[in-house]
Amino acid sequence: MEKGKILVTGGLGFIGSHTVVELQKEGFDVVIIDDLSNTRIEVLEGIEGITGIQAEYVNLDLKNKVQVQAFFDQHKIEGVIHFAASKAVGESVEKPLKYYENNISSLLYLLDSMNDHKVTNIIFSSSCTVYGQADELPITENAPIKLAESPYGNTKQIGEEVLKDVSKAGDLNAVALRYFNPIGAHSSGQIGELPLGVPQNLIPFVTQTAAGIRKELSVFGDDYPTDDGTAIRDYIHVVDLAKAHICALKRLIDGKNKSKMEFFNIGTGKGSSVLEVIKTFEKVSKKDLNYKIVARREGDITAAYADTSLANKELNWKAELGLEEALASAWQWQLKQK
Ligand code: UD1
Repeated sequence: MEKGKILVTGGLGFIGSHTVVELQKEGFDVVIIDDLSNTRIEVLEGIEGITGIQAEYVNLDLKNKVQVQAFFDQHKIEGVIHFAASKAVGESVEKPLKYYENNISSLLYLLDSMNDHKVTNIIFSSSCTVYGQADELPITENAPIKLAESPYGNTKQIGEEVLKDVSKAGDLNAVALRYFNPIGAHSSGQIGELPLGVPQNLIPFVTQTAAGIRKELSVFGDDYPTDDGTAIRDYIHVVDLAKAHICALKRLIDGKNKSKMEFFNIGTGKGSSVLEVIKTFEKVSKKDLNYKIVARREGDITAAYADTSLANKELNWKAELGLEEALASAWQWQLKQK
């Protein structure tokens, strides 16, 4: 039987573009849907520059149910990796409807069309945000789901619930990958993170400050109950994260999944504090970073890092790159931006 294509929604975004590269390297035929709401069309050239393969690309808004159906009428799809979503936590608090509409409606229409076209495999971008401040570290997949801190976080929880119900009711097989903190860029320097406006996340703010685009980095709080007082996260290289999607996809395609809906933590298993990130960045970039300590950011947790043993065993996947490599790649990427 002719193999179908892999649909990557949000395939021109940060994690999506790196995943498209890994899919193409593994010989998958990829079709990207992206509405360019938070990225640029040039990413397509970056992908081709790395793999030598021009990915098929469709500019489509997943909130348009009719167009989503038409897309599935026109393409034979074997599996879906669903990245397309809005992801700014602060904005989601101000514009909750935008987030529920963007992140939930699109998922519903996608699942509806998949069902109509007998497409049974989906990988969903979830987040460690579903655990809130976990009671125990490292965090396993069995840690309780905490009340969401933001509409953004809530859309990830609801997305998982929707998939659980839909997979139970029919032929769908789903994997939710709960990402810890994705950072870094492709080693080629051809694709990376493209934050629009003032970055909210730590690493783009760090690299932009070092590049002189921002005056000073604010470290949000040094009174956390951690060794140096700053908050701890599990920073994972985006290329390692992209590879986890290939492992999860193959698991579904080969029918190796143990239940209709599975969840995996995707991180390095190692926690780093904000000050450790700064020190490591200064080391790899050979630049002094201008920073000051300010008050905590509302909604931030003290510490989160993953227990990745389930993903290591079941997906046969393990993060291979460390914080130094991730920060060095983020810096190389920053230096290439105009
Ligand atoms: C944030 C979201 C999370 C989302 C993820 C997506 C919040 C509360 N959480 O994670 O739901 O899945 O982004 O990438 O927004 N920091 C500074 N100064 C800065 C920026 C960040 O000190 O200018 C600190 C933060 O306080 C935190 C760490 O750096 O301790 C990482 O922050 P960030 O990159 O924004 O990620 P999260 O907050 O962990």
